[in-house]
Amino acid sequence: MSARTNPPDRELILASLRDYVEQLREEGLEGLPAAEPSVAPRESPRVHVVIETPQAAPAAPSRAAVNDRQAQPPRIASAPDAAPRSAPDELFYRYPGLEKTADLAALREFIGDCTRCKLAPMRTNLVFGAGNPSAELMFVGEAPGADEDARGEPFVGRAGQLLTDIIERGMGMARSEVYICNVIKCRPPENRNPEPDEVAACEPFLFRQIDLVRPRVIVGLGTFAVQALLKVKTPISKLRGNWQEFRRIRMMPTFHPAYLLRNPADKRLVWADIQEVMRELGRPLPSRGARR
Ligand code: URA
Repeated sequence: MSARTNPPDRELILASLRDYVEQLREEGLEGLPAAEPSVAPRESPRVHVVIETPQAAPAAPSRAAVNDRQAQPPRIASAPDAAPRSAPDELFYRYPGLEKTADLAALREFIGDCTRCKLAPMRTNLVFGAGNPSAELMFVGEAPGADEDARGEPFVGRAGQLLTDIIERGMGMARSEVYICNVIKCRPPENRNPEPDEVAACEPFLFRQIDLVRPRVIVGLGTFAVQALLKVKTPISKLRGNWQEFRRIRMMPTFHPAYLLRNPADKRLVWADIQEVMRELGRPLPSRGARR
């Protein structure tokens, strides 16, 4: 009998291998071959491929300390492997006047028809963010994909639909009740990882956005968003489910919805993270039936 694999089997094996490599990449593994744009999902999370040092998650700060929303000088998260960070003022003053933007509309106006990084000529629309400007809950993703670039709104493609389901069916909240944005406001070509200069150019806007919305809880979606917020290189598989702190706001890292589209078995982990978030917000969990 021939030991040769017939073509349909080969395709299945190849597809499984690609998924596996994608998963390793999502977990921050180094030295993987570059993803082929033709097989990468449209909304594939962009991932820093880094040399990572596994770290224990820091102890969660007390609820009282974190919920203290008084106007304290903002402070960046306290993850143990954090790289040296700029003081917030330095981030703001990177673009003089940014710290004076009084609300999201003023911030959007400040950003304008941005040409501060090399993504500008490639975008159709800058994707600023959407939702309730005084939301208790904020989701931070990575960067817009093709659908978001076309519509100028975050999370409107397939991964966005899943995020909407998580919010509406899983949490029993309206999507319009929360605030959703990305680290990077313009789509990187072929959905490649944002590059450090692009993150550096855009993150002051995210930080200002967070300071203006001042949510009680941030959910960081996927490796890239969480690493950008915490300035750590720990993979999402190690961070997820463990409370972090970002500028005195509680932050729950979890898997990116695009990752869940490829790994539906991990939805149960995200559900556990979401339950933590609901508990923190003091909101009731919808009944199981409502989540189906
Ligand atoms: N993935 C993201 O991280 N953000 C979006 O807006 C869409 C897909």
